[in-house]
Amino acid sequence: ATGMFTYDPGFLATASCESKITFIDGEKGILLHRGYPIEQLAEHSDYVELCYLLLNGELPTPAQREKFENTIRRHTMVHEQLTQFFKGFRRDAHPMAVMCGVVGALSAFYHEAMDISDAYHREVSAHRLIAKMPTIAAMCYKYSTGQPFVYPRNDLTYAENFLHMMFATPCEEYKVNPVFAKAMDRIFMLHADHEQNASTSTVRLAGSTGANPFACIAAGIAALWGPAHGGANEAVLTMLDEIGDESRIDEFVARAKDKNDPFKLMGFGHRVYRNFDPRARVMKKTCDEVLQELGMADDPQLKIAKRLEQIALEDDYFKSRRLYPNVDFYSGIILKAIGIPTAMFTVIFAMSRTIGWISHWNEMISNDYKIGRPRQLYTGAPQRDYPQR
Ligand code: SDX
Repeated sequence: ATGMFTYDPGFLATASCESKITFIDGEKGILLHRGYPIEQLAEHSDYVELCYLLLNGELPTPAQREKFENTIRRHTMVHEQLTQFFKGFRRDAHPMAVMCGVVGALSAFYHEAMDISDAYHREVSAHRLIAKMPTIAAMCYKYSTGQPFVYPRNDLTYAENFLHMMFATPCEEYKVNPVFAKAMDRIFMLHADHEQNASTSTVRLAGSTGANPFACIAAGIAALWGPAHGGANEAVLTMLDEIGDESRIDEFVARAKDKNDPFKLMGFGHRVYRNFDPRARVMKKTCDEVLQELGMADDPQLKIAKRLEQIALEDDYFKSRRLYPNVDFYSGIILKAIGIPTAMFTVIFAMSRTIGWISHWNEMISNDYKIGRPRQLYTGAPQRDYPQR
């Protein structure tokens, strides 16, 4: 038993580490961040406050929140030389490829971050990453369009600033729709952290070697990119486009059940949740709010999505395998409605998850840790001698 939670020996054998940051109960569909249910945080908090909570362990007082938010604001610009780094990429590069490279390159600008034993340097690296990820993400998008980079503004909220950097141009301000900004902030919160998922485990493994935090986050971005993980939100929209019409849903559901067909329903299933992903419930509510605001309640893709969800909840194949919509199922529809291009969906997931990654990295490095060294079951050739020739 650890505190209020008890684990069976089988589970303990699979646990890769201890952590105080996030608790998931896959059977009951529970997700707690430092003990607070995600549903309550999504309702009453915002992303900046959640960043403080994940990093420090407690909700900030108003004074702590103001200091933290001002500190983040002062780090939102990137080194002007970093903008040159983008020029090496083709304009049609996938923004995740650019983000991987640029975030790793931050290691070249902040040499003090190499001293990971210094708590102050670790804290500054965390603040830099929280602050710069939206700027870098928006730069990845601007670079793909050929438009100039847009500087952050200190008078906007975190989510407003991201939308401003994405869609403003030197010729025209971007008027932030408050419904979009709230939906964006909600998406940031729902993707912030999720225990030892593949990308967070990657960050921890990289961090266990003593690598600097920027290199570790770049490793996390690379792991998140896969369609089985963070790339699923982009894959959901590609799937909905491929289905195209409600009349073709049954064809794709049949394919998802066919063991000879590699097709899986993107946005369904989860390594841990055997119940509804609590984030998907909040995401679905947000999706309805955004499409209501836009008068798109009968959006064709949303209709296909809702039909797929209904099938997954009723069909024996999905019910018997306890496959439910996950966090990625609705986020793509919201992002598309806000006007975010599909190729940017996983970049936004990476941006949101950076606080989770860096909080886990900091938790590990602040305590005793050993280099990660997973072992294997060897199934290759028995020992044999080199042939005499
Ligand atoms: C994220 O770990 C995290 O916390 C991740 C994440 C986070 O916040 O970090 O929550 C974010 O990555 C969410 C997941 C996003 N991925 C997708 O939506 C891609 C589609 N989902 C599948 O690829 C799959 O469900 C996984 C990868 C998510 C989980 O794969 P598993 O562990 O193999 O699923 P499972 O063991 O529960 O599968 C049981 C059965 C298998 O069939 P059988 O061999 O039992 O006959 O269900 C089948 C699977 O083939 N199955 C699916 C399916 N997912 C599982 N069949 C059709 N469509 C699907 N989506």
